[in-house]
Amino acid sequence: MNDPNGLVYADGVYHLFFQYHPDSVVWGPMHWGHATSRDLTHWEEQPIALYPDALGMIFSGSIVIDRDNASGLGRDGKAPWVAIFTHHNQLAEKAGSNACQHQSIAFSLDDGTSWTKYADNPVLPNPGIKNFRDPKVFWHAETLRWVMSLAGGDRIFFYSSPDLKTWTLESELDGFDLVGDNVLECPDLVSLDVDGRKRWVLIVSLVKDAPNTGSGTRYIVGDFDGIRFVPEHEDSRWLDYGPDNYAGVTFHNTGERVLLIGWMSNWAYAQAVPTAPWRSAMTLPRKLSLVSVDGKTMLSQKVPIVFDGQTSLYGNWPSDLSAVWCQADGVLELSLCADNQPSFELTLSNEIGDRLNIGFNATERLYYIDRRDAGHCAFSTDFPIRALAPHIGASNGTDIKLYFDRSSVELFADNGTTAMTSLFFPRTNYTTAILQSLGKPVHGRLTLARL
Ligand code: FRU
Repeated sequence: MNDPNGLVYADGVYHLFFQYHPDSVVWGPMHWGHATSRDLTHWEEQPIALYPDALGMIFSGSIVIDRDNASGLGRDGKAPWVAIFTHHNQLAEKAGSNACQHQSIAFSLDDGTSWTKYADNPVLPNPGIKNFRDPKVFWHAETLRWVMSLAGGDRIFFYSSPDLKTWTLESELDGFDLVGDNVLECPDLVSLDVDGRKRWVLIVSLVKDAPNTGSGTRYIVGDFDGIRFVPEHEDSRWLDYGPDNYAGVTFHNTGERVLLIGWMSNWAYAQAVPTAPWRSAMTLPRKLSLVSVDGKTMLSQKVPIVFDGQTSLYGNWPSDLSAVWCQADGVLELSLCADNQPSFELTLSNEIGDRLNIGFNATERLYYIDRRDAGHCAFSTDFPIRALAPHIGASNGTDIKLYFDRSSVELFADNGTTAMTSLFFPRTNYTTAILQSLGKPVHGRLTLARL
């Protein structure tokens, strides 16, 4: 699988649709897979939602609940769920046509279980732009209409619609930093309050040239009036500095909560990672908010899941955590909260010499995840890296959370304004966990918890 698609919450259930090739573990004719969860941690796979058809493969997109049945696709008082997605026509692509990606819709009257494609697809035909995809739709309450963000090569288009079937181009945003000859994908425009003011955040994924290899996701804060998005600064920021968080988008219908899930991989090596029989996972969900840091508005990400079975230690950090580390399987949350900003390094290792180093260098003011010797690496020259993220903000203490699964770590620091997500593949499980601070103890709180 790759991108999360059509994230939607309804009646206590979170729905995750996703780019899915059911016939192999490499990319192929894309379907929409479907999984559901009540707690955002335990997911149950559901039947495939959307299959390729005569118009093409089913690429990324979003789902909205059309409460007022403006689309007319509802029946017997049941509000339709409408999926807005890209049809990718591979035959047209092979024939050299630029017009191979169109936006189409499908609807469900049973809460996402079964889907019917709209008879008059595509609803937004290609205007002659090669990369023209990944519609993310939301209800814009101020102008009382649906708004779609769409990636169009090196720019983002904003369309509006009264009924999800007819779309009008309102504006386009181009020329923001770092685009270069990149291809933009999976845009998402979300509103969040900060300091009593409503702001808008445009999230965009870039297929290459991310700071720590391959593909990555950026965000820009600005204002949106239903027509145009106006960035606050020239510069956008990386949503995640690690190599493995891509194509992240937010849930529809979660009220004030803005929840993002990303694909935990990277196009540089996604199809070669040494896992079987599965390939690819999603990041943990992240609750987004905006915070002001040194006069700049930044996105803060927090994992909205309560971990329990806590071991909490206050005082000097012990260096050998192996016993608690190896206690049980499952996702582990490690919080480090020190009274000052000491350098620290956590090393996970096994008896055959694989080692993963994660830490903070207080002199260079950098967080790092070094997987160069962490285990299997040879499947791609892009994989063995020491990923870096700058420490931002003026916080006095270390306040870091790390979420580990068997072969992934998600790091959150600087009040959630710095995030790093990284895969790693030890040849056998890590059995030793050592936490050090340049050989000295650090004073603070250390908490370990499990799902
Ligand atoms: C991003 C992406 C999207 C596209 C989908 C195809 O990872 O390339 O732009 O819709 O994946 O699977």
